[in-house]
Amino acid sequence: MEKKQWYKDKVFYQIWPRSFKDGNGDGMGDLLGVYEKLDYIKSLGCDGIWFSPLYPSPGVDCGYDISDYNDIAAEFGGMEAFKKVLEGAHERDMKVIMDLVVNHTSTEHEWFKKSRERIEPYTDYYIWRPAKSNGKLPNNWDSLFEGKAWAWDEVRNEYYMHLFAIEQADLNMDNPLVREEVKNILRFWLDMGVDGFREDVITFISKKEGLPDDRIMPASKGIGYYNHGPRLHEYLEEFHRDVFSHYDCMVLAEAPMINPKKALEYIDENNNPVLDMMIQFATQEADCLFTDFNHIPFSLRKLKRAYSNWQNGLEGRGWNMLYIENHDHPRMVSRYGSEKFRRESAKMLAVSYLFLKGTPFVYQGQEIGMSNWYPSDPEMYEDVQTRWQYFNVGTKRSPEKRLQRLWHGSRDSARTPVQWSAEPNAGFTTGEPWFYVNENYVDVNVASQEQDADSVLNFYRKAIALRKALSCVRHGDYREYNKLSSSLYTYSREDEKQKILVVCSYTEKEVPFKAPQGFDLASAELKLQNYAKADSALLKPYEVRVYLWEK
Ligand code: NOJ
Repeated sequence: MEKKQWYKDKVFYQIWPRSFKDGNGDGMGDLLGVYEKLDYIKSLGCDGIWFSPLYPSPGVDCGYDISDYNDIAAEFGGMEAFKKVLEGAHERDMKVIMDLVVNHTSTEHEWFKKSRERIEPYTDYYIWRPAKSNGKLPNNWDSLFEGKAWAWDEVRNEYYMHLFAIEQADLNMDNPLVREEVKNILRFWLDMGVDGFREDVITFISKKEGLPDDRIMPASKGIGYYNHGPRLHEYLEEFHRDVFSHYDCMVLAEAPMINPKKALEYIDENNNPVLDMMIQFATQEADCLFTDFNHIPFSLRKLKRAYSNWQNGLEGRGWNMLYIENHDHPRMVSRYGSEKFRRESAKMLAVSYLFLKGTPFVYQGQEIGMSNWYPSDPEMYEDVQTRWQYFNVGTKRSPEKRLQRLWHGSRDSARTPVQWSAEPNAGFTTGEPWFYVNENYVDVNVASQEQDADSVLNFYRKAIALRKALSCVRHGDYREYNKLSSSLYTYSREDEKQKILVVCSYTEKEVPFKAPQGFDLASAELKLQNYAKADSALLKPYEVRVYLWEK
């Protein structure tokens, strides 16, 4: 089947269903709510949707612990509601991709229940090991969420591996029957009409034979033995050959700790790609070390290196996935931007990535500049990873310090309900919301921004429309300027028809501005800006500009 690469012209919107919009008043976001908002999403200029998991799940990791891959959770409206949304999206020329989570299943999945009872053919569906003769764990690997990567199962009398929460058991992808199951899941959704998948931590699915102890990593032990493991490429190739190559679909792979060179092993368009795009983490690491909880001061130079490294590294061979927010990281206004200059910095952050080469993703609430959440009590956090970090890591530090660590690092900041209006519960639900609403909803919400021509929301609309209108954004060359500046990110995009210069200020100070050599601003059109007037020699706090030259 010929692949049309339609994703190269799309802008995706990511929905984290629990907190998007409640349609039936039970306090939980659902597909009825999504259906109501399809026109809103389209009005942003977004013409694709990535759904974080919608499947039945006990919800230990908010849906990333799946107990049935071939259904839609009742709390989201079930299969009927999903089909309606899918149809509604397609009618609007919007694509829909699902989250595929097959590194692990919920321990409530039928496969796990049968596997622990050694019922065939499920016995080897998971990674089971007896205790070592000295009674110790099978190896020294860490779980990324909770303690060690092994949990004891009383029924089977063995340990099973869990790289994430205890209730997320890792599948044994080396078992061909498990790979057949994965392919059947993929076909099930593709045959229904979905347009592709975002594959959750897919680079973790092949573990090194023998599961050796890790003697190198001080923390996250084992990651070198399961990230990009020995048979990963083989399995991705198999999924591609047996399933994806038969559909005009898109496959986006989440890939922690990856660089462009490694990514090209999977997405090089000139060399039998097995995936279409990868979600890199480098652009999330400009204010932290390895995870968001290890906060360090924001470094623009680090961020710029990451952007340029990916733009240049994939040039002519692979396609970038572009994002600044998703459900796994705190909000960007509070990180690389400024809550004091919320409106200005949210707009600047939008432009910083929307004019790069690749397919942009906008995360729910990002388009109105939602910011972080600062609860006073650690018990208010819901996320399994966050709770572990508070209650089990660095417990000698004062409670205040530990709470601040969560304010910086917790992904729950990105999971508070979308702020639709200044009405109770931010208009998210008429019932009791499943999670806390950020108190700033009275000032920051969709309804008020709809009325304000100068709002972040309307700026997103303009920026996305401009992106779509410019051929140089789709095809043009990328070049970065002022590389050593720690307050400005300046880049150009150029093709045979036009050239743009993008200037982003990442500081609340005013900074002197001079166009890079060869750019005559007098002959340019200033297409987008976040202040009423642009000073020719000075940039205001978090100012952004997009200049255009038509050839
Ligand atoms: C990555 C997902 O984005 C995250 O939300 C989840 O907790 C882990 N993978 C485990 O599935």
